[in-house]
Amino acid sequence: MIDETFYEYLISRYKNLRNKGKIENADIVYEEGNPSCGDMIKIYVKLSEDKNVIEDVKFEGKGCTISQVSADILADMVKGKKIEEAKKLDKKEFISELGIELSPIRIKCALLAYKVFKMGAYGIKIDDEKI
Ligand code: FES
Repeated sequence: MIDETFYEYLISRYKNLRNKGKIENADIVYEEGNPSCGDMIKIYVKLSEDKNVIEDVKFEGKGCTISQVSADILADMVKGKKIEEAKKLDKKEFISELGIELSPIRIKCALLAYKVFKMGAYGIKIDDEKI
C-alpha cells in the first residue's frame, strides 16, 4: 500500500526526473526488462579516466512511475561513488532509500533499475524469483 504523501512525492519526482537521458560515450550500457510487464530500463554509466569512480549515470526506458523514479534515485545514489563501493549497494538498502513498503509486484518495479545496474556494471544477475 502506497500512502498519499509518498504518492505525491512519487508523482512530483516522476515529473522532474534528474537522470533521465543518454550518455554518448558511456563506459557501461546495459538494458533489461521486467519480464512480468515488459517494461525496460537502459542504463548508461560514465566512469572516471582511471575507471575507479562513477562520474555519471543516466537511464532511458519506459515503465511505471515506481520503476522510473527508482531508476532516478539509484542514479543519484551511485553517482560519485567508487565503482567497488557501489557494488556493495544491496537491494534492502536500496529499497529502504525509497522510504516505503511495497507489495511483491511493486518491489519488482522498484528493483528493475537496480537489477539492470548490477548486471551491466558487475555481471551480477539478480534472480527475479528471489526479489
Ligand atoms: Fe512494469 Fe512496474 S509495471 S516495471
